[in-house]
Amino acid sequence: MTKKIAILPGDYIGLEVMAEAVKVLDVLRAEGEALEYEFGLLGGAAVDAEGHPYPESTQKLARAADAILLGAVGGPKYDELPRELRPERGLLGIRKDLGLFANFRPALAYAELAAASSLKPEIIAGLDLLILRELTGDIYFGQPRGRRTNAEGVEEGYDTMHYSRTEVERIARLGFEAARKRSKKLCSVDKENVLETSRLWREVVIEVGKGYPDVELSHMYVDNAAMQLIRRPRQFDVIVTGNIFGDILSDEASMLGGSIGMLPSASLDVNGKGMYEPIHGSAPDIAGQNKANPLATILSVGMMFKYSFDRGDIADRIDAAVKGVLRAGHRTGDIAQPGEKIIGTREMGDAVVAALQR
Ligand code: IPM
Ligand code: MG
Repeated sequence: MTKKIAILPGDYIGLEVMAEAVKVLDVLRAEGEALEYEFGLLGGAAVDAEGHPYPESTQKLARAADAILLGAVGGPKYDELPRELRPERGLLGIRKDLGLFANFRPALAYAELAAASSLKPEIIAGLDLLILRELTGDIYFGQPRGRRTNAEGVEEGYDTMHYSRTEVERIARLGFEAARKRSKKLCSVDKENVLETSRLWREVVIEVGKGYPDVELSHMYVDNAAMQLIRRPRQFDVIVTGNIFGDILSDEASMLGGSIGMLPSASLDVNGKGMYEPIHGSAPDIAGQNKANPLATILSVGMMFKYSFDRGDIADRIDAAVKGVLRAGHRTGDIAQPGEKIIGTREMGDAVVAALQR
């Protein structure tokens, strides 16, 4: 059956990195994979064209697709818009609309890029961890939220941190399943010493864990986890955590390997339908200059084949092609060492395509 892929390049470098990911899809299609793509707008581009960051046309497209490939959204041009129209609302809107509650963010240290990390090579050598971030709950979506003036006449802003048992159960289960397929170690990150939400979180994770006696479960407070990630990152294999903690820890983890430009992510619903995107943002400062690293988006294509299309073989080929181009010394600016030759976004995409076809 033909797989329908909704392609949402987004804003700024989103367009450039997506063009390279499409080259990779084209190679696979030329080999006979039944793929159909349809392009749509999300974020600032959608605001410009249709007056909304997640317009109806994109909702239709995304709901009908088998998987969604996303570039990056946002930029200074849109910073002054009211909150409902900000590009980020488009991203949060599509996650919530499609029920993409499970966000897989792997962090890998490529041996070829060890020098690009700000940590000592011996600390990050062989690093391979997976952060599983809950993506549709927590303080991101909790109600009530808003602005008000309190009894003393002082302005306040407030948000609600919130998790239900069912929300924690389903993400915990995926955490244990992921750990089972890897080194059978799961670390749940919370703030149980302070937050009610976290007390429920920890209780539920422990209960779900009873069904996975083969997985070694540990718990860590989020502040300690932030520290341990730079102190001794290899102690972790799979981390499962809530939306806001996962947002912060995954940015931190993305730097361990040297560049945020290398890391893909998957966001899945209960049926395994997913949206795939690089972890990095839209980088307006380098947009339109053929400077962005397209590898995270290309690796996101790999994750799409693995998680949504059950084609781990294609994911492995894409991973191997990326490793191959790194081994051959191809570097965009973000992963180059002083003195190394720097190539552009398009040239990097071409190098991956060539490696795939070998
Ligand atoms: C991310 C981003 C988003 C988030 C923003 C752009 C809304 O930081 O995907 O991590 O906070 O989830
Ligand atoms: Mg983030």
